[in-house]
Amino acid sequence: MSTIIGISGSLRSKSYNSALLRAAAQLMPAGVTLEIASIKGIPLYDGDLEEQQGLPTVVTALQDRIAQADGLLLVTPEYNNSIPGVFKNAIDWLSRGDNAKKVFLNRRVALIGASPGGFGTILSQQAWLQVLRTLQTRPWFEGRLQVSRAGSVFDANGELIDDKIRAQLKDFLHGFGNFVGGA
Ligand SMILES: Cc1cc2nc3c(=O)[nH]c(=O)nc-3n(C[C@H](O)[C@H](O)[C@H](O)COP(=O)(O)O)c2cc1C
Repeated sequence: MSTIIGISGSLRSKSYNSALLRAAAQLMPAGVTLEIASIKGIPLYDGDLEEQQGLPTVVTALQDRIAQADGLLLVTPEYNNSIPGVFKNAIDWLSRGDNAKKVFLNRRVALIGASPGGFGTILSQQAWLQVLRTLQTRPWFEGRLQVSRAGSVFDANGELIDDKIRAQLKDFLHGFGNFVGGA
């Protein structure tokens, strides 16, 4: 049995990206579990805070969860054609401290994202690549999922209502699940 930690990069209660993550958790292939984690409560990175108090508990707890898992799924919004600050801030904190290597080094990781616009987070996903390389992760590149026009893909309750996207998400998770479970 493999475990993937999934993190949405939005704090918004009606977030399309969080809705996509919840949908993913329902569509996992046999033998792979997707556990949903959150960046809520992670403070703005502050080197003084780190020096004086170390890493916040909310950060070390998330580090431990990722370190114990077999893979990491980042579900990213796109802001101004790049990574939203809140999400990057969370990853920056996670990259600090004695456990950072256990979190990211060789970590099997994949990216998906949703946007109400027509390009489905393509530039945000592109921007993540240099971060994933710097962190020495092991990204899975065989699949792509960029959900555009998210306003018609999810209903008002955040349920995935688009059959084509559901099939694409399922395929993506199957491929990433194999990668995470493999050697
Ligand atoms: C500051 C800001 C910048 C944005 N820039 C983009 C953008 O470059 N491309 C895009 O597709 N959507 C952009 N959007 C719209 C977001 O995709 C939209 O707000 C989306 O719902 C955010 O993800 P969420 O639903 O998971 O919170 C932007 C939104 C904000 C607040």
